[in-house]
Amino acid sequence: MRTVTHTAPGEPEDVLTLREDSSPPRPGTGQVLVRLLVRPVHPGDLALVRHAPTPPEQGPEFRVPGVEGMGIVESVGPEVRPDLRPGRRVAVFPAPGTWSDFVVVPADLAVPVPDGVADETAALMLVNPLTLLTLYRALEDALRGHKGPVLQTAAGSSVGRLLGAAAVRHGLRLINLERSTAGAERTRRRYPTQPVVSTSEDDWREQVRRHCGGEGVRVVLDSVGGAMTQDLAALLADGGTLISYGQLGSGTTPLEALPLVGRELTVRGVSVLRWTDRTPKERAQDVAFALDLARTTPDLLEVAARYDLADFKAAVEHARRPSKSGTVLLTSPPAADSGRGAA
Ligand SMILES: NC(=O)c1ccc[n+]([C@@H]2O[C@H](COP(=O)([O-])OP(=O)(O)OC[C@H]3O[C@@H](n4cnc5c(N)ncnc54)[C@H](OP(=O)(O)O)[C@@H]3O)[C@@H](O)[C@H]2O)c1
Repeated sequence: MRTVTHTAPGEPEDVLTLREDSSPPRPGTGQVLVRLLVRPVHPGDLALVRHAPTPPEQGPEFRVPGVEGMGIVESVGPEVRPDLRPGRRVAVFPAPGTWSDFVVVPADLAVPVPDGVADETAALMLVNPLTLLTLYRALEDALRGHKGPVLQTAAGSSVGRLLGAAAVRHGLRLINLERSTAGAERTRRRYPTQPVVSTSEDDWREQVRRHCGGEGVRVVLDSVGGAMTQDLAALLADGGTLISYGQLGSGTTPLEALPLVGRELTVRGVSVLRWTDRTPKERAQDVAFALDLARTTPDLLEVAARYDLADFKAAVEHARRPSKSGTVLLTSPPAADSGRGAA
């Protein structure tokens, strides 16, 4: 059993190593052991390697990255519902430690994957679609019945593309920001009815204001942050909301630099890692949405490249490459006796 681990926070290429163990862990009561076949390299996984305190206060002396993946149920502990028998294909989230050949998860966080959904699609169908739902709820709260204008950063990211598609479906006035003209061209081709602005152009702020038609932006959905936060806040209408859900950018903006008081702006953080706070019924509805998206529009869960788990360093480098489209995957070979491929 191979596991990618780290014992201290730091740059992934410096601190991550591959560990070999003779046997996988055993599932306890209400848990399943999943033989993972595919798991993504999300920007959030890399951020947690950089910042998560390690080792955890309890448990082993190392940390394993990854919160999502898909695989085959290998064995089940006592009191697990009967549909999760060994051999069942499942997607798992939140499942800390998916950058391993095996992970143990609570049975209620293992989602059976229907026939017709490919392994790679299943490996991507929870985190980003559930992030979309979480962001959309925060957006609707902030919009209070308005249809926009809404500005999003990193519009070509995997989450940004889901937001773009949702905006088309719901008639939301979405303005897309990209950091390069090539990225802006790509997003324009994808969503020809939506304005796209490249921040590489000196007058990008004026372009956004023109697309707003004189009013300010009601909500910014931002995954870049850093030094850009001040510009984004300046584009908000009085009473507007900046929803922060990622930190792809560099630099910082002190809170005091934002005109929060005088212009009654709101800054709100959103994290899919809080999704388990929802009730079981709400979670079931969200998972049904994710399954429907995986079945009907798998192209929205694009794969950028695949690497064997042992090639995690190359995968991390690819995941950070500019102009990448989609998500990089780490794969494990199926069990020798399974008679099936990983995609
Ligand atoms: N809060 C949550 O619960 C949650 C959940 C999921 C994702 N996220 C966040 O959502 C963001 C997107 O994730 P993803 O998986 O969709 O990413 P992704 O598919 O890997 O795409 C990353 C995108 O970010 C752009 N980018 C990278 N660095 C940038 C910078 N400094 N300035 C502007 N754009 C930059 C890239 O643009 P180029 O094409 O120009 O290279 C690329 O389009 C990340 O910040 C991630 O942490 C948050």
